[in-house]
Amino acid sequence: MPEIIAIVNQKGGVGKTTTAINIAACLAALNKKTLLIDADPQGNSTSGLGISKHNLKESFYDFLIDETPLTEIVMETSTPDLYILPSNRDSLSLGRDLMSTEGREVQMRKILGRQLEKSPYEFVLIDSPPNLEILSINIMAAAKRLIIPTQPEYYGLEGLADLIETYKRIRETLNPGLSILGVLITMHIATNNLSKEVTQNLRENMGGLIFETVIPRNVRLAEAPSYCQPIIAYDPKSSGSLSYQAVTMEILARTSQNQTSSEI
Ligand SMILES: Nc1ncnc2c1ncn2[C@@H]1O[C@H](COP(=O)(O)OP(=O)(O)OP(=O)(O)O)[C@@H](O)[C@H]1O
Ligand SMILES: [Mg+2]
Repeated sequence: MPEIIAIVNQKGGVGKTTTAINIAACLAALNKKTLLIDADPQGNSTSGLGISKHNLKESFYDFLIDETPLTEIVMETSTPDLYILPSNRDSLSLGRDLMSTEGREVQMRKILGRQLEKSPYEFVLIDSPPNLEILSINIMAAAKRLIIPTQPEYYGLEGLADLIETYKRIRETLNPGLSILGVLITMHIATNNLSKEVTQNLRENMGGLIFETVIPRNVRLAEAPSYCQPIIAYDPKSSGSLSYQAVTMEILARTSQNQTSSEI
């Protein structure tokens, strides 16, 4: 089975999609065959990689509800070794449709388990929506590890505490094998005191759970999706690109050493 890593945070706009696209692209650039599952009805990972989300024949919805095989839905991207399971507004009704499914909280785990058994992927990354509703619960029940992007701001800390409560509940009930691969500080501004204070506070309280690498606020990262490219293709030497490459190396080290924190 591939490493299944979900990028989660119920808070909106913290950099989940930017992180999912760019870590997936960095893994692919290292010749690791990677599937990015866009599990968000907003379809930002889909459009950010240059796939038109408005005329998809099939999407994440068909995968989860109709059990359409991955091989029929997954699309190539312009990055070699990077594939996407696209999403769009069709997935807006997933919450309601999952409610009437037997085993509704583990539907995604069941399907991924079946479909990834003989898949060619080394890594599967899941970009998730900004809530803790049934779809997000499915994602955390299906993943092996979580990456939690967070902005170094006060409300970010509050949101993180709620998310960790949910993570613990899911580990106790639905997915005992789940662990946190790391918390990733995003949109950090080195000259901003609040950024520095919150980052320091997080390192003191969560220690090694926080990735060493911090993602700076970098306008090139925000521009890249409109050129339908991950940052390593759009501006490989930018600070955003170098930081996503660095955190990818940390991820590879942590996954190969099986180093995650299931203790919190
Ligand atoms: N490090 C960064 N520097 C500058 N802009 C960034 C950075 N990371 C993300 N952004 C921009 O911030 C906005 C929110 O980022 P993104 O879409 O990745 O967040 P998200 O958590 O996926 O949002 P949602 O909760 O809506 O899915 C986007 O416009 C994105 O381009
Ligand atoms: Mg997003």
